[in-house]
Amino acid sequence: MQGKKTFHIITFGCQMNVRDSQWLGRALMARGFREAPLEQARVVVVNTCSVREKPEQKVMSALGRIRQATGGDSRVLVCVTGCVAQQLGTSLFAKEQQVRLVAGSDGIANAPQAVERLLEEPELRLDLLDFTQHYVEREPAPAPGGKGGPLAYVNIMQGCDNFCAYCIVPFTRGRQKSRNSKAILDECRTALAEGAREITLLGQNVNAYGRDSSGDNVSFAHLLHAVAALPGLTRLRYVTPHPRDMSSDDIAAFAELPQLCPRLHLPMQAGSDAVLARMRRRYDSTAFLHLVEALRKARPDIALSTDLIVGFPGESEDDFQETLRMVQTCGFMSSFSFCYSDRPGARAVLFPDKIPAEIAQDRLLRLQALQDKLTSAWLWGRTGTTTTLLIEGRSPRDWPGEGLGWQGRDPYGVPVHVKLAAEKDHTGQLVPVVITEAKKHSLLAQRLEESPQASKRHRP
Ligand code: SAH
Ligand code: SF4
Ligand code: F3S
Repeated sequence: MQGKKTFHIITFGCQMNVRDSQWLGRALMARGFREAPLEQARVVVVNTCSVREKPEQKVMSALGRIRQATGGDSRVLVCVTGCVAQQLGTSLFAKEQQVRLVAGSDGIANAPQAVERLLEEPELRLDLLDFTQHYVEREPAPAPGGKGGPLAYVNIMQGCDNFCAYCIVPFTRGRQKSRNSKAILDECRTALAEGAREITLLGQNVNAYGRDSSGDNVSFAHLLHAVAALPGLTRLRYVTPHPRDMSSDDIAAFAELPQLCPRLHLPMQAGSDAVLARMRRRYDSTAFLHLVEALRKARPDIALSTDLIVGFPGESEDDFQETLRMVQTCGFMSSFSFCYSDRPGARAVLFPDKIPAEIAQDRLLRLQALQDKLTSAWLWGRTGTTTTLLIEGRSPRDWPGEGLGWQGRDPYGVPVHVKLAAEKDHTGQLVPVVITEAKKHSLLAQRLEESPQASKRHRP
């Protein structure tokens, strides 16, 4: 183990957890800590997720790995944060000697202070598990050296009020609490000053932003306009919206804001109206298709991706066929699909007609085979078109003897590999390219100046 002020963070789960971990790391760095490999860290944080299967086992095996890597050293301070911490609470203390801090979704805001105190008081254990009434503003945590990279993630809310029948989020992240719009804009400005060119607004149900007592009467569409107007911002994205909460202003924003990328992750979950009703999604397949149509009208080049659950209690083969049909009709460019699993506290735990694992697994494979076809067709459809990449860093793909590979994303968020001059760092640059080839989940491209002929072949 190295000095007292070293830390290591292990992150599971969604983009919000990734951002929480980034914030916590930066807040520790602002206190003089530095990042270290697991074996050498004095403070180890496991930031956890409980949205799908076996989250508890995942956390316990991470804690086991930590014990091994640190030789069970009692001076190592292990902290469990996030959704599983919220769920299991102080019972985690009994499960693992090294754990001395458990902090839930709202409690994480005070984790940096708690870490400092726990290092001073080796006998102490602390829990930060209370939900707050309002969004907890966290201390600003600047990027190290004032340089934060081209992509920034900014929380706009916490929690969810929807209580979809399968979902644990309202229990682990609490009720929906919108963040003050001024604080959001300030954080966006800081990120832009630190070098960000793309901002992703984060929340469990972003387009319900402002519709709770914690907001300041700014709607989601207004917020989008305000963020898009910030000088220096090239690209704006958000995750995750709920289909039911997409307002006409949210749809119009795709026509009005050139910064808003033509890509929307819109979780559909299922295609059958009966299943959607039991899931308590509050839309049916017709409403979903109308929404897709309205989005395409506002932004003809928009690409949609989605989340899907198969094997929800009571799902028949016909219900599942409806999902396949809807996926085909909507032509999703990609999707995340999961077998339903019981989550403690969620209503569907009590539903009869649980689907046997083999049947759910078989449906998942059939769904994923369809999605692979759609994804491949969509990616190949991009070849020959021109676009702009925001370069994120070096690519593992090289062009031997010719130049170095760099990786960026197109406006659709697809990873694209491109050969660029070797001599400088291209991170954060916007590079015009023509797409030349599709891989399974990514694209290859050529810098435009190098291919003047191809550059004439614009997308229709
Ligand atoms: N609105 C949230 C949803 C979080 S959960 C967000 O995306 O930020 C992410 C996805 O996990 C859901 O869209 C759903 O498809 C899947 N999921 C949630 N609970 C699940 C469960 N009990 N079983 C299987 N999949 C689930
Ligand atoms: Fe997992 Fe949901 Fe918590 Fe994110 S909010 S970490 S997806 S349970
Ligand atoms: Fe979960 Fe539904 Fe909210 S999926 S996060 S309860 S919108």
